[in-house]
Amino acid sequence: MKNDQCNNSLPLKKAMPKLIKTATEFKLSPTLAANELVAARRAKGEQVLQMGFGQSPFPVPPRLQKALGDAAHRKEYLPTVGLRELREAVSSYYKEKTSLDTDQYDVIIAPGSKLILYALQMAVKGDLILPVPNWVSYAPQAKMLHTGIINISAQLDNDGYHIDSEELRATILQARKEGKNPGKIILNYPNNPTGLTIPENELEVLAKVCVEEDILIISDEIYGLINFNNTYHTIAKYAPTHTAITTGLSKHLSLGGWRVGIGFIPKAIDGLQGLLSNIASETWACVSAPIQQAVTEAYKGHEDIENHIKDCTAIHNFMSQYVSEGLRQLGVSVPAPRGAFYNYPDFNFLRSALAQNGIKTSKELTDVILKDYGMVTLPGTAFGAAPEVLTLRISACDYDGTTVLKAYQDGETLNHDFVIKNAPHIEMALKAFRQFIQDIQQAASSN
Ligand SMILES: Cc1ncc(COP(=O)(O)O)c(C=O)c1O
Repeated sequence: MKNDQCNNSLPLKKAMPKLIKTATEFKLSPTLAANELVAARRAKGEQVLQMGFGQSPFPVPPRLQKALGDAAHRKEYLPTVGLRELREAVSSYYKEKTSLDTDQYDVIIAPGSKLILYALQMAVKGDLILPVPNWVSYAPQAKMLHTGIINISAQLDNDGYHIDSEELRATILQARKEGKNPGKIILNYPNNPTGLTIPENELEVLAKVCVEEDILIISDEIYGLINFNNTYHTIAKYAPTHTAITTGLSKHLSLGGWRVGIGFIPKAIDGLQGLLSNIASETWACVSAPIQQAVTEAYKGHEDIENHIKDCTAIHNFMSQYVSEGLRQLGVSVPAPRGAFYNYPDFNFLRSALAQNGIKTSKELTDVILKDYGMVTLPGTAFGAAPEVLTLRISACDYDGTTVLKAYQDGETLNHDFVIKNAPHIEMALKAFRQFIQDIQQAASSN
């Protein structure tokens, strides 16, 4: 049948399916929205500085490109928990590289760790304890599942991201008194949005509280291999029976669009891996077969892949510290990041000048910075902060990863000149912040 034969159909009527009650709460995830905004503006020829979206920009290592080509003939459904060869490679890799005793865990592969986080939230009963600030998707996922959220604040400083263990215990006990049922906590380190990590000794005491109170720890370690002092800590070392780990290749191998997530599921929790496998079977079924085959190569310890990860991490470290120091020189308070590729500056020092310019919330701050300085940043509210807390998340990835990696591997030194030559948007972003701060202060003093 030709297309135009359909044209005499009835006039289109508006469809009125009933949407779930909470539908209006769900918006495009803020980080993806930032990406789409920049793409739209750049398509119109406008210059935009993309300090909002956290996407590691480095190229796909040649070995993985070749492996994907070689696996292109694979077309079968794979087991719901993932390709056996990949799961074994992942298990050996983490055993060798980290303090994780992988023998105590089953591995599951999913299309992104985001879905494993969602499936874990679905599988484990009870309210979710969520430290603030936290990554953008944990709370919306909990809301989709009608799970209650119990917030606890984290303290941020140059030593890291701190959650007071006694406050955690008090929060759990108080919640129980109020008839709530705290059942799980999500920890994320190195952390998005702050770039900070939870010190190892603090992981140990947090683990103790969670074990004593029988809380499942969902440990989001997606940035675990982008750790600037090259030490991978996992809370699972202290609570192997109570920790499920999520990770993947989206960050340290810049493969977000390949959609591969990895879960380490404690064997001690009877039935959890089976439940996740059932959820997978009724939803994503399995991750694409060629992709699973190809990423197996990423977990075999090949020297070229390991060097690639090391080089990318060194560049992330440099760019993150460069932005951090640049902001500090402007008077902004921001702890030095320890991993990932983010900074979480606090503009509280400018509060009264900002207020005189009508800016009282982090959202208003990001709006002005976008409108008048052409720079996308994300407001603290996207990460659970109260509206009047003047924090922003700044991602230090707006450069061409192929150019930058090549320059670094060719022996160029990571310094100011390197940024000017190879990553000019990073320098322009700092300039835009300088201009913004000057303008705000000037406008306030002339009021
Ligand atoms: C903290 C954190 N967790 C999880 C994810 C999800 O990653 P993916 O679904 O690509 O594995 C991201 C991605 O931005 C993240 O920043």
